[in-house]
Amino acid sequence: MNIILLGPPGAGKGTQARKLVDERGMIQLSTGDMLREARTSGTEMGLKVAGIMDRGELVTDEIVIGLIEEKLEGEKGGGFIFDGFPRTLAQADALGALLERHGENLDAVIEMRVEDEVLVARIVARSTCGMCGEVYNDETKPIPADGKCTNCGGTEFNRRADDNEDSLKTRLLAYYKQTSPLIGYYYAKGNLKPVNGLGEIDEVAGEIAAALGG
Ligand code: AP5
Ligand code: MG
Repeated sequence: MNIILLGPPGAGKGTQARKLVDERGMIQLSTGDMLREARTSGTEMGLKVAGIMDRGELVTDEIVIGLIEEKLEGEKGGGFIFDGFPRTLAQADALGALLERHGENLDAVIEMRVEDEVLVARIVARSTCGMCGEVYNDETKPIPADGKCTNCGGTEFNRRADDNEDSLKTRLLAYYKQTSPLIGYYYAKGNLKPVNGLGEIDEVAGEIAAALGG
């Protein structure tokens, strides 16, 4: 099964993708994570996208489509979770063509609905394990008192450079302007499954499971 997690910044795409990986053995393909990895390892592309990401703008279609294409060549089995991709109509068309070329279907597009005020509150409270990427939240999922990641035992936690009020405004605008047209695109294709992203993490996971057919 191949699915897209579609939703604004802070909707919980990464959080739910990790649960699906654990529970169903699916493969998470997050273009945001791939771009941050390229930055950390200092590749030419990573350096090129750094400023764009920090401002909260979208990087070019060409770059992210290239990243996804590479992953689809390399990974097999389990089904893919596209997390934060596609984000433009051009990316959606490219994904459709890529899946077809690999003999794969797109089974569902989970649209995670969360109000803007909640998104802002979630994002300013987010931190991530530097070792495994487990996502924490000062309010709703705090780092354990012993300072160790529940998933890998790591002790270093990072805040993202784009998790500030200014970048967040740009990211939200980019979502409404460039990405939200995909809601209509996938509705027309019959793939769209809206989910209320406002509940607790496990409740949202339950809604996603129901949308995917148990
Ligand atoms: P990306 O990394 O994809 O960021 P994003 O879309 O802004 O989304 P986030 O990762 O911020 O949010 P999320 O939905 O994953 O939420 P999370 O689970 O962490 O992209 C970053 C940048 O890269 C872009 O701005 C762009 O520059 C570039 N980029 C990436 N892909 C691109 C593409 N395809 N095209 C062009 N450019 C691209 O949760 C957030 C917080 O809330 C956490 O603290 C979590 O613990 C908490 N939380 C989660 N669920 C719940 C819940 N149900 N209840 C309470 N708290 C919750
Ligand atoms: Mg994410």
